[in-house]
Amino acid sequence: MLLVRDLTRVATPSGTHAPLRGGDLGAVDVIEDAYVLCDGDTIARVGRMRDLARLDGDVIEIDGRGRCAVPGLVDCHTHAAFGGDRVDEFSLRAAGARYEELHASGGGILSTVRATRGAGEDGLRAAVELHRGWMRRHGTTTFESKSGYGLDHDTELASLRAIGDAGGVPTWLGAHAVPPEFDDGDAYLGFALAEVLPEAAQIAEAADVFLEHGAFDVAQARRYLEACRDAGLALRMHGDQFTEMGAIPLAIELGARSVDHLEATGAEGVRALAQSDVTGVLLPASALFLGRPMPPARALVDAGAAVALATDFNPGSAFCESLPICCSLAATQLKLSPAEALAACTVNTAHVLGRAGRLGRLAPGYRADIVLLDAPDWRYLAYHLGGDLVAQVVIGGELP
Ligand code: NIG
Ligand code: FE
Repeated sequence: MLLVRDLTRVATPSGTHAPLRGGDLGAVDVIEDAYVLCDGDTIARVGRMRDLARLDGDVIEIDGRGRCAVPGLVDCHTHAAFGGDRVDEFSLRAAGARYEELHASGGGILSTVRATRGAGEDGLRAAVELHRGWMRRHGTTTFESKSGYGLDHDTELASLRAIGDAGGVPTWLGAHAVPPEFDDGDAYLGFALAEVLPEAAQIAEAADVFLEHGAFDVAQARRYLEACRDAGLALRMHGDQFTEMGAIPLAIELGARSVDHLEATGAEGVRALAQSDVTGVLLPASALFLGRPMPPARALVDAGAAVALATDFNPGSAFCESLPICCSLAATQLKLSPAEALAACTVNTAHVLGRAGRLGRLAPGYRADIVLLDAPDWRYLAYHLGGDLVAQVVIGGELP
């Protein structure tokens, strides 16, 4: 047993259902002077110190004085399997170059494809483990990561294996860009679906596609997603990042788990998403990093849409692994409350990953994933912009 005792506060999204929508998104249960008791990898009890019964047997104790506990953060959208970096491109962008133009001229995503193909399987494993360590230091106890920087048979599969072996949830982003050895998206998809999908579907849980000018159009996205669905994968989509190209209607029609980005989503998209079971994944670090408009988060929540909050960690459009920074951006840029931000990167991201029954809350029966904040109030998660907040994480009842 592991006992985290004398916590200033424990804060957890209320209820037992997922995803949380509308008013439910902002409902957080807070217990003062509290403990969390873990039995093996599972939370056994959460309560007030004065109600803590005497414990027999072996109990490891963690002193929680001056700290607040929140559920382990769940990042449902990262691109952690890449080689190299894009710091030169970042400098060019700082001097005025545009992300879409760099992409169109063979830089951007394709420059990371070159570096990732050159990294080798060991290099990719080391990269994913490095990035996992960065995420943990910011309180992420479960991460999803996409492939998508290999775009050939061996590198895509090596990326998915590296993600899974590092404890991540692998998503096959086989349709991220058209690699240079193919003339067009249709030719590339012919190869990817015939040669890569059968093995990718054995490792990945979901498939993702970048629906955008310069990447894949709506007919190609449909072709890719339908084939992936038929191979047993859940569906995700990068949609409405720069242009509305039909991502939301396609996601709804195909029963996708999520559409991610939504910086270009208009009123009709907000209405459609709100009436659907598709979660809108908000990536404010990406909008900030590219100097783009923020997604219409407040409108989505108020209309009743299920929204989640993730980093989009990647070398080009969001070199940011911190969900607390995303919570801060959610509060200052997306106009979500700290409570809504917490639920959006715990319960609702767990829902996007199909794990909401086990992750995202501090309650009996959930996995013992806990973030101990070095702060007197759990809302520092959003309040302390870029602060050194995370004192410790517990993952599956253990101190990693
Ligand atoms: O989610 N938009 C497409 N893919 C990534 C960025 C990839 C990159 O720039 O390397 C994203 O923003
Ligand atoms: Fe992304």
